[in-house]
Amino acid sequence: MIPLSIAEVSEIVGATADRVADQAAIVTGPVVIDSRQARPGSLFAALPGTQADGHDFAADAVAAGAVAVLATRPVGVPALIVPDVLAALAALARAVVGRLQGGLGGSSPRGQAPPGLTIAAITGSAGKTTTKDLAAQLVESLGPTVSPKNSYNNEQGHPLTVLRLTAETRYLVAEMSARGPGHIAELCRISPPRLGVVLCVGHAHAGVFGSIDDVARAKAELPEALPPDGVAVLNADDPRVAAMAGRTAARVVTFGRGPGADYRAAGVAVDEAGRPGFTLVTGAGSAPVQLRLHGEHNVANALAAAALASQLGLDVAGIAAGLSAASARSRWRMEVTRRPDGVTVVNDAYNANPEAVRAALSAVAAMAGGGRAFAVLGYMTELGDQAEELHEEAGRQAARAGLAGLIVVGDPATPILTGAKAEPSWRGELLQVPDAEAAVAAVGRLVRPGDVVLVKASRAANLQRVALALTGEQPL
Ligand SMILES: Nc1ncnc2c1ncn2[C@@H]1O[C@H](COP(=O)(O)OP(=O)(O)OP(=O)(O)O)[C@@H](O)[C@H]1O
Ligand SMILES: [Mg+2]
Repeated sequence: MIPLSIAEVSEIVGATADRVADQAAIVTGPVVIDSRQARPGSLFAALPGTQADGHDFAADAVAAGAVAVLATRPVGVPALIVPDVLAALAALARAVVGRLQGGLGGSSPRGQAPPGLTIAAITGSAGKTTTKDLAAQLVESLGPTVSPKNSYNNEQGHPLTVLRLTAETRYLVAEMSARGPGHIAELCRISPPRLGVVLCVGHAHAGVFGSIDDVARAKAELPEALPPDGVAVLNADDPRVAAMAGRTAARVVTFGRGPGADYRAAGVAVDEAGRPGFTLVTGAGSAPVQLRLHGEHNVANALAAAALASQLGLDVAGIAAGLSAASARSRWRMEVTRRPDGVTVVNDAYNANPEAVRAALSAVAAMAGGGRAFAVLGYMTELGDQAEELHEEAGRQAARAGLAGLIVVGDPATPILTGAKAEPSWRGELLQVPDAEAAVAAVGRLVRPGDVVLVKASRAANLQRVALALTGEQPL
């Protein structure tokens, strides 16, 4: 972060100091919420967790070198006392952005890093982290770039990411998620973006919002927050996203598979490992791309990253080369492991929603080629009223994907089984198991060399344990 004195931090967050001996002591970062990550110069933010209360670890953080603790009550070590630690982190992050932007706009000749900081933000129901990781790998070639670790995309993770910015940083490529109205608007207040990408509006968290139209309204807060000299990057293939063109003051560019998009893919072909290749077509020329990521759904993510990087000034050749070299930085998203016995495990257990399940099923079907594909599916959380229907639909899709077998894990996922059974074309093995242990055993009985096994569910179902056991990375 940019160095700030304790006195400056106190003023920004409106804190009262407790046991602070030296107001001039400098916080140089990192700002951490885990005392084990505290280092000399750190600021430790004490957050109440579900398992533990950060306040109990304040002394550990200071012993590890933290200059002070942001806390809601005295903790026996130097602390800045505020009513709400998350709100204080947001205020601090906002102030850091303000200083770095320093009134310098973001515009500059194409291809050059502009003075000051340019912020790009990515939202959507699926693909945010993947797109963020791809875009960051492209933008890094333009100048020093900060992007979140994993999915640091909410009121907690986003300020922590922003607080990693330094005076040298030229680009922030942020991921923004919403679990309710106003969330993205708030993240945009912390770090006002000049570029905003909306990937898709799907059923993820629809249950929390109410309906898919409520999800769309929440995602639209990103284009709504963009300035007139900004750029809204919208998915032309998703009508709810395309319609956001009417809700932004910014210039609009589009990406998509259809012929009308500004950034599109021609001649998409998936190789035997399920990795898509295509020609990236833009108004400024075309170039071949061969992704290292698995699954055709990543074409859309790659196009979105391409549009973002292009709007920041990277040329088409640089984008195509960068996309072709880019790796998956965040784990358990279509992570492919080829076992010594010839079985391929696809760990996509990071999260699931109906659109993501469809994408993953079609990816493993493609990867199996003429061979056999299996899926281990668990339940998808936060789908609201439509949960049962959407799980049944996932089962029907699994059946239609031509799987050799479907293993449904846990009671809440039963409608997946019902859906698969109801599909007349279904010919494969169909079983339901109670837990991860039984799922691993069932896969062990069913698969043979050459088979592909997908493991996918919502985070809460914890099915990454199945995938890690199947790859041998971590025994159950
Ligand atoms: N464009 C897409 N269309 C459909 N599904 C996708 C797409 N991109 C990614 N997915 C699926 O969603 C899963 C999660 O991807 P990713 O982590 O990039 O999304 P996210 O939006 O960051 O998720 P979260 O809301 O959990 O942060 C992937 O493993 C993949 O199965
Ligand atoms: Mg994410």
